[in-house]
Amino acid sequence: MEAVMTCNMPKRWNPKMPKGLDLEFTHHPISMRRVVNIIIALERLKARSSESVLGTEFRDENLLNLIFENIVEEQIVFECSSAPTDDYTRSDDMEHQCSVTDSKKRSLVLVQNSMELQAMMLQGGNDNRKVYLNMSTYMHPSPITEARPVALCIKGTNLYLSCHEDKSVPTLHLETVEDKSNLSIITSGSDMMRFLFYKRDTGVNISTLMSARFNGWYISTEDSDNKKVEMCQETAQRYTTFTIQHQS
Ligand SMILES: *[C@@H]1O[C@H](CO)[C@@H](O)[C@H](O)[C@H]1NC(C)=O
Ligand SMILES: *[C@@H]1O[C@H](CO)[C@@H](O)[C@H](O)[C@H]1NC(C)=O
Ligand SMILES: *[C@@H]1O[C@H](CO)[C@@H](O)[C@H](O)[C@H]1NC(C)=O
Repeated sequence: MEAVMTCNMPKRWNPKMPKGLDLEFTHHPISMRRVVNIIIALERLKARSSESVLGTEFRDENLLNLIFENIVEEQIVFECSSAPTDDYTRSDDMEHQCSVTDSKKRSLVLVQNSMELQAMMLQGGNDNRKVYLNMSTYMHPSPITEARPVALCIKGTNLYLSCHEDKSVPTLHLETVEDKSNLSIITSGSDMMRFLFYKRDTGVNISTLMSARFNGWYISTEDSDNKKVEMCQETAQRYTTFTIQHQS
């Protein structure tokens, strides 16, 4: 690794690594991914330094700052990639508040006494009953194309949509999650998979939401109004596509 560094670095730098900034990755087996990451860091370093060099003075501490800003930051990437897991990890910067309507343009409403979501046609004055869902997106080491794992929470509550079996049929539930951090990492195959759905886009702002736990079971609404939002299989005579729009 050090060989790569010296041949890429302009001579005038000859950096002395400060204490604590050991090039740890030299001891690891070098995967293609790590090499690529380091080269990106160096390219950024070079790009940044050529500006600074043109300035008046370029001292050791400037270089040190550059190293810290560029290389140390990149090192985080190495640690992640060196421990491959099968977990679903929530990307915290990707929680969106969404408006959700079914293909009959009905909104979702929380019916408090039965603790269920129903599909309703809301008229003017009733608009405040409309439920917005907070959608957080998850990453998985081997992602499925065109479908992102998401968790769905009713905005302003700690109620999460979950899919688990009820009398051996996958059903939709609302579950209270007191500690949101419990959902930051979901182990593949664990019981917590009930909180994950695969959002697959079928058009602009139109998606289906399939249970990640029960393959082929979708969040769906019935033809008649004021009925419970439930899980169903693709062949059922129910509405499985939703218009999902991010709110700004
Ligand atoms: C939902 O999203 C909004 C905006 O993105 C955020 O302010 C809020 O804390 C989130 N959580 C809940 C439980 O509403
Ligand atoms: C959530 O985490 C807390 C500790 O942070 C733990 O006591 C609790 O059992 C967890 N709940 C679930 C459902 O895993
Ligand atoms: C899709 O949703 C965005 C807001 O998230 C909206 O600005 C845009 O107009 C929508 N597009 C269509 C075709 O509905």
